[in-house]
Amino acid sequence: MKKHIVVIAGDGIGQEVTAVGKQVLDKIAAQYGHEFTYDEALIGHAAIEATGSPLPEETITKSLASDAILFGAVGHPKYDNDPTAKVRPEQGLLGIRKALGLYANLRPIKLFDELLSASSIKPEILKGADILFFRELTGDVYFGERGRKDNGDTAYDTMIYSRYEVERIAIKAFDAAMTRRKKLCSVDKANVLESSRLWREVIQEVSKRYPEVAVEHQFIDAAAMLLIKDPKRFDVVVTGNIFGDILTDEASQIAGSMGMLASASVGDTTGLYEPIHGSAHDITGMGVANPLASILSAALMLDISFGMKEEADAVVNAVDKVLKAGYRTRDIADASTPADKILNTAGMGEQVLAAL
Ligand SMILES: NC(=O)c1ccc[n+]([C@@H]2O[C@H](COP(=O)([O-])OP(=O)(O)OC[C@H]3O[C@@H](n4cnc5c(N)ncnc54)[C@H](O)[C@@H]3O)[C@@H](O)[C@H]2O)c1
Repeated sequence: MKKHIVVIAGDGIGQEVTAVGKQVLDKIAAQYGHEFTYDEALIGHAAIEATGSPLPEETITKSLASDAILFGAVGHPKYDNDPTAKVRPEQGLLGIRKALGLYANLRPIKLFDELLSASSIKPEILKGADILFFRELTGDVYFGERGRKDNGDTAYDTMIYSRYEVERIAIKAFDAAMTRRKKLCSVDKANVLESSRLWREVIQEVSKRYPEVAVEHQFIDAAAMLLIKDPKRFDVVVTGNIFGDILTDEASQIAGSMGMLASASVGDTTGLYEPIHGSAHDITGMGVANPLASILSAALMLDISFGMKEEADAVVNAVDKVLKAGYRTRDIADASTPADKILNTAGMGEQVLAAL
């Protein structure tokens, strides 16, 4: 199969891990007789430096013309501590999700058994946890009206959702639940927020079309607690943009590290595949970032955008094999990991390529 992929590596460790994700795609193409062609595009701080915009028009055009996007991360320390900056790298990521109509972010949380000890949660609580998050991406406080008043002394961000926005992600989540354990948990704050009451109303309506799926509703505060207390109780979780942002970072600890979690953003056009982590200023340039989230994002691309299930499984199995062989990057190593098994970014990439 011929596929055209746009690589948007972005900032910080985004550059380092995406290079490895791309190597894995190349290896798969060679092994399975596919032809993957690539183009590169700018976003975030790198794009601001080059063009003045965090999301140049050319990036959108190239993305729309591609079959899938392999994405790294955006962010730069100079903006994190400058709340007055009007142009920010993160606008690039929010903008591309909006421009491409990518409204559903799928975040599978699956623990590789070998990493049970890398998590700060007790192994007996974790073992067997397998959750698929659906985070809504184009609404909520991230896109509602915002501003300042009272001479700048009062600030507001509006949490806003429309019926169709909730309905379309609900359908995706229910469809996924039907292919899994047929359980769906919707997370909101309907005891306080009007937008959450609409969210719950729509989930209840959509649930009537899926009588086989057992539905529960949890408030975000309770869901955050249950996720750590008993992660195995969850199958599919569907939630809004900000609650999903926070809950999935929390859930990354079920998988051992932010460096392990991949995601797929899908919707009306080209799918975008990215690690859930950011640009990680604290380790940028050190060559120690864990590339497995980018590699697993490439696997999601093969599966979801290209329908290459066998190839996707081959990538996941290769990661499993490397972990079983005891190889770790720093973030997933523990006191029992021998020094010669602790690899840098490139070293971990080489092991996965060898396992493939
Ligand atoms: N999707 C994105 O592009 C995205 C997401 C979150 C944050 N950000 C941006 O990233 C910057 C840093 O934010 P942050 O520190 O809150 O979040 P982060 O995800 O970049 O890092 C959080 C912690 O996890 C570690 N970590 C993350 N990915 C790792 C990997 N692959 N291997 C090993 N360790 C890893 C980091 O070293 C850090 O200690 C900010 O500018 C933020 O705005 C971007």
